[in-house]
Amino acid sequence: MVTHLDLSDRRVARYGELLVRMVDDFETHAPSEFVERYRRATVKSAAHWRLARSLMPQGTSSNLRAWAPYPMYFGRAAGSHVTDLDGNRYIDCAMAQGVLAAGHLHPAVIEAVEAQLRRGTVYGGSHRDEATACELLLERYPCHERVRMVNSGSEAVLHAVRLARAATGRSIILKVEGTYHGNYDPTMVSFRPTLEEAGPVERPSAVPFTAGLAANALADTVVIPFNDAGALAAILDERREQVAAVLVEPVILNMGCTLPHADYFPAVRELCDDNGVLLIFDEAKTGTKIAWGGGPEFTGVQPDVTCVAKAIGGGFPVGAILANESTMRLIDQAVVLQTGSFAGNPVSVAATIVTLRDVLTREAHRQTSAVNLALAEAYERVIADTGLAAHVVTAGVTGALFLTDAPVTNYRDDLAIDPAAWDTYWLGMLLEGVIPQAYGLDDSWTISVAHDEGDVRAVGDAFAKVAPVIAEVIDRRAADVSLR
Ligand SMILES: Cc1ncc(COP(=O)(O)O)c(C=O)c1O
Repeated sequence: MVTHLDLSDRRVARYGELLVRMVDDFETHAPSEFVERYRRATVKSAAHWRLARSLMPQGTSSNLRAWAPYPMYFGRAAGSHVTDLDGNRYIDCAMAQGVLAAGHLHPAVIEAVEAQLRRGTVYGGSHRDEATACELLLERYPCHERVRMVNSGSEAVLHAVRLARAATGRSIILKVEGTYHGNYDPTMVSFRPTLEEAGPVERPSAVPFTAGLAANALADTVVIPFNDAGALAAILDERREQVAAVLVEPVILNMGCTLPHADYFPAVRELCDDNGVLLIFDEAKTGTKIAWGGGPEFTGVQPDVTCVAKAIGGGFPVGAILANESTMRLIDQAVVLQTGSFAGNPVSVAATIVTLRDVLTREAHRQTSAVNLALAEAYERVIADTGLAAHVVTAGVTGALFLTDAPVTNYRDDLAIDPAAWDTYWLGMLLEGVIPQAYGLDDSWTISVAHDEGDVRAVGDAFAKVAPVIAEVIDRRAADVSLR
């Protein structure tokens, strides 16, 4: 029998309260002047929000789109820009939560999709192009031998975990504190726990990220700190022969852009090998972006299983699991079942082939990474000029502004960021015509093949206007604290 977490559970109740409050009023700590300007600039979005809220929880199709004070609604997008219902045009560095490394409406992707739409949208059977997409993925990930296509990152993670459990005959999954891996219950844990609930740094508590998990959903999830091979070794020592896999992003793009120490992944690899544990790289967000060849190219370490999604589809829903022949034999022999009505659907596969083969090429990655570095420099110049306590980290075509001058190497460091400073950054940049990153102080930006130097200059100019206001907010909050 599946029972559900008791809502009186202290941690779940707190998250529930937060959600209820958000439905009434998406709270922002940005200065009221920014909020007023936002309201004046987004009148049509505000009107639509009222309608949407009467029909959809939070007026959105994903909780991560509940932008404060209310979401804007979009009508058009092309290249590096999106336009909202009020006709405001923004330089888009969120790129659909990291999906659009190919840019909005890349002509080659659209052409391939239009051609496929005339041949069929879904066959309910297999088709020739799936194999081409798999070959292209294996070119980027030569450490793997077989691929299964799915529809999303969440699905890829779910199947990868199942595969790892079946391959090892063990059930525990080690998951990094402060990271997001999609909607699969055993990974909906310790995404943004408060310091009080997070437990000891080297042995974090498993804090549910949502109500509604099965009572035992987290029984086999153990949370580990990032960049701490010693903590991993200790847990493996204790839970010897129970751990199926370590599930980790090679660069944590759901903690800004938190880089691994150079010796972290080699040590993780060795510990996994020594203990018969599979290493799963969740590259839903990093794939094609931190390097052309993703995590293995970036870290020099080869995982046993890789999940990819988002950017590989050029704007269409897709995901894939990659592993070696012996692991995938479990699916081949139907020991592990992996199914899906839309898995490998021809439209997404057509988009994936063009995206991987023709758009996100090695040369495109080099060029876009250079644009991304120029963007980081533009931010750093403003930080130096204003003395703002902040720094920028990049990886390939992604990056993040950390509103702290201390390095961020794990979730506990990330907690130093003041949400009021971040809200001010977010809303201030929107008012200057820039969506600076995916929404949320834990998220990151994506630069696409469509972004150019003009975009970089405009983002830098926008930040130059907003940074002094962020600095004021930080100073005021520090003064408030010292008065208490
Ligand atoms: C690392 C990671 N894994 C999995 C997912 C889930 O992917 P999807 O939203 O395609 O289900 C995400 C989504 O942001 C992600 O960042």
